[in-house]
Amino acid sequence: MPAIRIVAAEGIDRRACRMLLPDKPGVVGWSQLLVAKDAATGAILGAAKGMPVRMESSQFQLRIAVHVPKPFRRRGVATALIDHLAGHAREQGFQSLAVLLEPEDRDAALPFLSARGFQTVDRMTTFEARVERMAAWLFERRRWLIDRGEIPATARIVPLSEAPIDAVAELHARSIGGVAPRIAASLTELARSSDGRDTVVLLIDGVVGGYHHCDSKGDLSMTHALAVTEDLRGGGAGSGWAGLLLLADRVEEGIRRGVVRSRFSCLSTVRPTLRLANIFEADIVSIGEYLCRDLVR
Ligand SMILES: CC(C)(COP(=O)(O)OP(=O)(O)OC[C@H]1O[C@@H](n2cnc3c(N)ncnc32)[C@H](O)[C@@H]1OP(=O)(O)O)[C@@H](O)C(=O)NCCC(=O)NCCS
Repeated sequence: MPAIRIVAAEGIDRRACRMLLPDKPGVVGWSQLLVAKDAATGAILGAAKGMPVRMESSQFQLRIAVHVPKPFRRRGVATALIDHLAGHAREQGFQSLAVLLEPEDRDAALPFLSARGFQTVDRMTTFEARVERMAAWLFERRRWLIDRGEIPATARIVPLSEAPIDAVAELHARSIGGVAPRIAASLTELARSSDGRDTVVLLIDGVVGGYHHCDSKGDLSMTHALAVTEDLRGGGAGSGWAGLLLLADRVEEGIRRGVVRSRFSCLSTVRPTLRLANIFEADIVSIGEYLCRDLVR
């Protein structure tokens, strides 16, 4: 078996890493890109990447993804990549490694992940709701919030291309995960492309209060990220007007464009989104698994 060398993916290796592990739409902020090489020939044997993700407890996990092409499997390549990521993560004070496993990857990946000490700790449910149903509730609730004077007069929703991207990236990193400069680079690219036309930012007196990263294809729209600053969140004393305004705005625009259904996902710990799924009478489209491996010894 060849000796395996793990290196940070730079230059041409970075391109190889991206080809083996293409970014899923909306999942931005991967910061640790690695490739595994045959120590003798330099041939690339596999790739991995990591992204810090904030947990409900405010601690950080390192979310990872690994891919080893078929001819190089069962030689310890993925194990070497994960060990490398785990070493760094431990040094940087992360509590655990995490993998989000889509249903279609489950059968192929689960034996490996179980062998490497990962355990399923949560599930990621993807919902789909009819926008008509969402509109009925969101527009009524928005009217009520406006009438009660909850929404500041200076609040406005602008396209991503007109927003301060660095502040949006900071909000994403703080609330969802990822490394802000990497997220800013992805969002800058997104703002310039036609895929970015559906992503909007809430500004209050010009300051970022929230953002909604979504896109639509045909009659289906997909939310990739929805985040509002800590002071504007619902629950407790807050009415949650900011998140609601962002959702209502996208539903309104979606209806104008012929969107019929809207898709969104969340872990079972994200109660506000589960509550909305319930209000919107959303169907469950798929359930992915969230697996973790503790790093604290
Ligand atoms: C899952 C994957 C990364 C494993 O890569 P790999 O380099 O073959 O993994 P390793 O050689 O390090 O395997 C380590 C151990 O995991 C277990 N394992 C790995 N693949 C397995 C399989 N197909 N069936 C059963 N056990 C398996 C074994 O215990 C293995 O040790 P062994 O070969 O000494 O028995 C690879 O199959 C892959 O890229 N799959 C597609 C992408 C994917 O699903 N990624 C995982 C989600 S992040």
